Amino acid sequence: MKKINIGIIGGTGYTGVELLRLLAAHPAANVVCITSRSEDGRLVSDLYPSLRGHYDLAYQTPAPTLFDDCDVVFAATPNGVAMKYAESLYEKGIKLIDFSADFRINDEAIWSKWYGMEHACPHLLAQAVYGLPEFNREQIRGATLVANPGCYPTAVQLGYMPLLKNDLIETDSLIADCKSGASGAGRNASTGLLYSEISESVKAYAAAGHRHLPEIRQGLQEMTGEPLNLVFVPHLMPMIRGIHATLYAKLKRSDVDLQAIFEKAYADEPFVDVMPAGSHPDTRSVRGTNMCRIAVYHLKEANQALVLSVEDNVVKGAAGQAIQNMNIMMGLEETTGLNLPALVP
Ligand SMILES: NC(=O)c1ccc[n+]([C@@H]2O[C@H](COP(=O)([O-])OP(=O)(O)OC[C@H]3O[C@@H](n4cnc5c(N)ncnc54)[C@H](OP(=O)(O)O)[C@@H]3O)[C@@H](O)[C@H]2O)c1
Repeated sequence: MKKINIGIIGGTGYTGVELLRLLAAHPAANVVCITSRSEDGRLVSDLYPSLRGHYDLAYQTPAPTLFDDCDVVFAATPNGVAMKYAESLYEKGIKLIDFSADFRINDEAIWSKWYGMEHACPHLLAQAVYGLPEFNREQIRGATLVANPGCYPTAVQLGYMPLLKNDLIETDSLIADCKSGASGAGRNASTGLLYSEISESVKAYAAAGHRHLPEIRQGLQEMTGEPLNLVFVPHLMPMIRGIHATLYAKLKRSDVDLQAIFEKAYADEPFVDVMPAGSHPDTRSVRGTNMCRIAVYHLKEANQALVLSVEDNVVKGAAGQAIQNMNIMMGLEETTGLNLPALVP
């Protein structure tokens, strides 16, 4: 298999190290450079002994020319960083898959409002393809710049998609009640993420408006072609990995077989598993995998659709989906390097 030369901007964080773990088992991956400003010169396998024997690579301070020999660059960096590298990579024809939100929102003004900064290259927003393969596979195939979806947006959009595409639900009152593990906030130290703060406790956060709201709304609206209303409330759970989305929607009709509709919608999708009727998917059933597991219920008395959607936030919610996108962009079998069962227990 022809090797793909890969660069990684921001390789010390949680999504960066997960990307390295997954790429270590990818037959076409050849990671040629990886950056960190704080760990410049340090061996990857020294910072992460879990990767000893897999990489003979040291972190380097990022510089624009560092990626000139790359076919694909992954940016596993905070919001506002990838957009500073995007133009030069784009001009050189180097494919960029960005884990941050820099290219996820089509409307520059909405992006600036939610992310509190000016966009460094708004003219590239129209070139960026939103990297949710189950919705956008054909556009991803020809893309140079892919905006990898957020972790919550992936679980929520995959859960609502069959209901919206089949015009089965009222779209003025959608509710996405979501839970995430602490790795969703990245590896930076903060008091609110101390073990003694989050263990044995659950709390909502950003209830008045989380940054993923405009991204989810944009994605769902593209599925229906109409404006819609969504309440999205995230919660922090005392666990490391995992997202659980509980999605509510009022059905337009009562004579629907939701189980059959979901099974048909995802029959050919390698990374969406529709569970048997009556299931309650748990986050540990997807830990370390690129799978999103979904269960759907028809609550007949209330005529509500209820969807339970789980994923690993750093895999299908970030690094795994990014590799899925790379496989599509590079013409590889989409599942290459990603066919892993979950880590249980
Ligand atoms: N964690 C998740 O579950 C998750 C899921 C989906 C998407 N995401 C998104 O993925 C991105 C990375 O998340 P993460 O959780 O891996 O973050 P993280 O743990 O905080 O790691 C951030 C990485 O970016 C580097 N970095 C920070 N500022 C930089 C700058 N100005 N220039 C170059 N490099 C810089 C850091 O290394 P140095 O500071 O040493 O350079 C570090 O390697 C974020 O945009 C996040 O929103 C995260």
